[in-house]
Amino acid sequence: MRAHEEDPIAVPAAPGADPGSSFAAGTARWLGALGRLRDVVRQEVLRSQLAGLPQLRRPPARVLDVGCGQGTQALHLARAGHAVTGIDASAELLAAFEGALAGEPAEVAARVRLIRGAGENAPDLVTGAFDLVLCHGVLMYLGDITPMLTALSQVTDADGAISLLVRNGLALSMRDGLCGNWPAALSAFDSKDYVNRLGLPARAHAPADTDQVLGPLGWQRQEWFGVRVFTDHRDEPAPGPEALAELLAAEREAGSRDPYRRVAALLHLVYGQVRANDRGNR
Ligand SMILES: C[S@@+](CC[C@H](N)C(=O)[O-])C[C@H]1O[C@@H](n2cnc3c(N)ncnc32)[C@H](O)[C@@H]1O
Repeated sequence: MRAHEEDPIAVPAAPGADPGSSFAAGTARWLGALGRLRDVVRQEVLRSQLAGLPQLRRPPARVLDVGCGQGTQALHLARAGHAVTGIDASAELLAAFEGALAGEPAEVAARVRLIRGAGENAPDLVTGAFDLVLCHGVLMYLGDITPMLTALSQVTDADGAISLLVRNGLALSMRDGLCGNWPAALSAFDSKDYVNRLGLPARAHAPADTDQVLGPLGWQRQEWFGVRVFTDHRDEPAPGPEALAELLAAEREAGSRDPYRRVAALLHLVYGQVRANDRGNR
């Protein structure tokens, strides 16, 4: 189940690995949507938010991307000089990531190591603690987020950060409302379960939901952002560079301030460990 240290992009076969996620049935549709406006906004806004984290200030940071998929963020971070390990349950998505690595300079590819397996097993799949642990677009597919968050906590350094990207459970009706799907918008006011655009059953999370699991493990939410405020209901290719730059500037701004971030499609939640001298103030 584990890549050889001397072969950083090896993807070993994992017979029948099923981490209990409902994502697998949507793999082809996920791959088909990459590079379209919604994906570009998600990845670029997230990339800028990550770039501001202190853990990434001095490369090489040790980064673990759990549910790395096709590796969009992992690749950005490897290009920036960080040492990245990706874990994913899907052989198909890891193959897509490997394909992207094949087009990179050798020194970038050498900074990436891929492991096929369940994120919940991360403590058994990697050694040591990471400066930054990402888990983006994964929790919505899990029946129970506690095993995954516990695993992430175990592999993150005491000075490190955990970065989660979740479907926003604070404002789940927004997408259906903006698309004019009124019955779905009405039912989303009182539920966190929904069917996503890949046709998969999924669950949204509010910051309090992840706080509730990570708090007792010693983690405190230090930052939170919205991702995709203005463009979530649009289904089109990304525009040209000039229009895209303006659109991304507006999305980044909206994602970093209230009230806009509260109605974003996705929330980016960043956790750090509670320091001994902060404990009395919690
Ligand atoms: C929506 S994709 C997100 C990919 C990437 N993180 C991103 O944000 O672009 C979800 C990914 O999580 C992976 N995944 C889902 N559940 C998982 C689990 N329990 N352990 C490891 N990977 C998982 C899927 O195989 C898929 O690659």
